[in-house]
Amino acid sequence: MATVLVYLTVMAAVVASAAFGAAELTADYYSETCPHALSTIKLLVGAAILREPRMGASLVRLHFHDCFVNGCDGSILLDDTDDMIGEKTAKPNNNSIRGYDVIDTIKSAVNTVCLGNVVSCADIVAVAARDSIVALGGTSYDVLLGRRDATTASIDDANNDIPNPFMDLPALVSNFESHGLSLHDLVVLSGGHTLGYSRCLFFRSRLYNETDTLDPAYAASLDERCPPSGDDEALTSLDDTPTTVDTDYYQGLMQGRALLHSDQQLYQGGGGDADALVKYYGEKPSKFWEDFAAAMVKMGNLSPLTGDEGEIRENCRVVNQE
Ligand code: HEM
Ligand SMILES: *[C@@H]1O[C@H](CO)[C@@H](O)[C@H](O)[C@H]1NC(C)=O
Ligand SMILES: *[C@@H]1O[C@H](CO)[C@@H](O)[C@H](O)[C@H]1NC(C)=O
Repeated sequence: MATVLVYLTVMAAVVASAAFGAAELTADYYSETCPHALSTIKLLVGAAILREPRMGASLVRLHFHDCFVNGCDGSILLDDTDDMIGEKTAKPNNNSIRGYDVIDTIKSAVNTVCLGNVVSCADIVAVAARDSIVALGGTSYDVLLGRRDATTASIDDANNDIPNPFMDLPALVSNFESHGLSLHDLVVLSGGHTLGYSRCLFFRSRLYNETDTLDPAYAASLDERCPPSGDDEALTSLDDTPTTVDTDYYQGLMQGRALLHSDQQLYQGGGGDADALVKYYGEKPSKFWEDFAAAMVKMGNLSPLTGDEGEIRENCRVVNQE
């Protein structure tokens, strides 16, 4: 009887820790093992943004695309091998995700200050995203830490699990729901588009489509940058202030000036739930900063590897050798 009870108790603990893996992450995870890890990451993120202000945007997006494919496990950083085609060449990432070299620089500096391989690549990506947001005017938040790194990556999972800019609202909502995120999370996290740029190939179809709701004056201003053919790589900012964390993104949506179709889907003027949230954040910057920080924590907690799952990669691009 006692044995059965012990067994049940152990099983309950196992089930609980599997279901609430994120609960194992803690803000002070490295405070004993590497007290200078976080300050080192912050310094190097700051330096990268000074060199190129867009890098902050790129690091935020890197974290998003890591988390949406089998959880925040650093899988996006793995280079292809003879046996594995990873996430880097998947459609949403190929020639699009940036910042791999910044992460490499941070990882080797952190290995040095920690006197060893202590901090996971997945945690570095999560902290770099937070430090980017703070450097560009957002509110700070504690990143929960202790993620471990994946030993595999999948191009198919990246192609299937990351939303694309041609999706309508229901598809965006169901994509976010598949990651345990709500419509509210979708609207808040899309506020990440307060930073950075998109290439012409992702919004061209809107410019030459008579039935699109894009503001005509804005559309005209984009025509030159993004012609009917060619210039696929030409960049346009996702809001008017691409290096500042502010609510111009939401203001733009309300004016029919969203760059991506998927962004405009969040505000269609029909008075739906998404419209109301866009209006709320557009009018209340302090709420946006606060809720964006909380939503980044929530996104950062998606299915982390913890305990003895995965590994701490020595080099973020390759799985450790046996
Ligand atoms: C809701 C669904 C989303 C879609 C369909 C989407 C799509 C896109 C696309 C197409 C680009 C331009 C990529 C390129 O031109 O190569 C982009 C850029 C960006 N996205 Fe998203 N995104 C979404 C959500 C998010 C979220 C949740 C975040 C972060 C919290 C985010 C952060 C960014 C940032 C910062 C950039 C600019 C990156 C840079 O300039 O390097 N996006 N997104
Ligand atoms: C990724 O981009 C490169 C360079 O533009 C291209 O040659 C390659 O075919 C692309 N890979 C995939 C899988 O689309
Ligand atoms: C043009 O816009 C309409 C309405 O948004 C959409 O249904 C249609 O698929 C678009 N066509 C192209 C070629 O993008």
